[in-house]
Amino acid sequence: MALTLEHVSKRFGSLVAIKDLSLTFERGAIYSIIGPNGAGKSTVVNMVAGSYTVTSGVIRLDAHVVSSLAKHQIARLGISRTYQNLRLFDGMSVLENLEVCFFTDSLPGLFRRGGHRMTKVERLKRCHACLHDFNLADVAENLAGDLPYGRQKVLELARAFVTDAPVVLLDEPAAGLNHTETKEMARRIASLKRSDRAIILVEHDMDLVMSISDRVDVLNHGELLYSGSPDAVRRNEKVQEAYLGTAAELDIVRKLTEGRRTSGGIRAHAGVVRH
Ligand SMILES: Nc1ncnc2c1ncn2[C@@H]1O[C@H](COP(=O)(O)OP(=O)(O)O)[C@@H](O)[C@H]1O
Ligand SMILES: [Mg+2]
Repeated sequence: MALTLEHVSKRFGSLVAIKDLSLTFERGAIYSIIGPNGAGKSTVVNMVAGSYTVTSGVIRLDAHVVSSLAKHQIARLGISRTYQNLRLFDGMSVLENLEVCFFTDSLPGLFRRGGHRMTKVERLKRCHACLHDFNLADVAENLAGDLPYGRQKVLELARAFVTDAPVVLLDEPAAGLNHTETKEMARRIASLKRSDRAIILVEHDMDLVMSISDRVDVLNHGELLYSGSPDAVRRNEKVQEAYLGTAAELDIVRKLTEGRRTSGGIRAHAGVVRH
């Protein structure tokens, strides 16, 4: 039982954003997709969730060919997501932002459970449990737009989980969060790991990625550069080199190279960039 990408490619005009990508995501694990800006991470999320069509290749969830379905059908199958930029309904309450996930076509939506349509009572019960789990009960009636940014990110996360989707895609859940909030987000996502759920995380914060992932897939220029455990990714020179070249990524390089000070090659590269 798995989500699979089989030789998936995506073109935007002449730009090849994803090239011949094959990956398997099993339930019961947290996967991270990392890579420099523009590597194609969000494009993968958008293709799996049906926001983008694939140019070639197939995406499957178990027996279903996801890549030939519309976005709302994919949501119904049990693939939910968050967005790189927040997409809350600012003028609705926190509770309403959760409730609406059970109805709308364009948002995480799983309307049926065990083949039957959930009743309003069941939906509300689930929403209140979710408010509690995500520490949002005290602001249930507040407008989502009035929450501080950190709690808006938590609400965005809660929305991806409220429908109990077996596949959850998280696009940069820690973007814009401070250090403490990021640590809290890491703890939260780790606690959401379940044997019947695959969590696929796109994230820039390497501490977060390395601390909670079972596998890390590294994209570079739309291609799979490396796939392995956090430790193996940390040790891989190809991965470190992919991140070199932009000052913004230096911190990531530093974190990747931490613990392997013996590698002269990597220090030499990082040194060049620093000058
Ligand atoms: N809707 C789109 N139209 C045109 N080009 C796009 C679109 N979405 C993404 N791209 C391009 O595809 C490449 C990968 O983008 P993206 O998946 O957003 O990268 P990442 O999330 O890894 O930073 C980039 O060159 C980006 O400009
Ligand atoms: Mg992105």
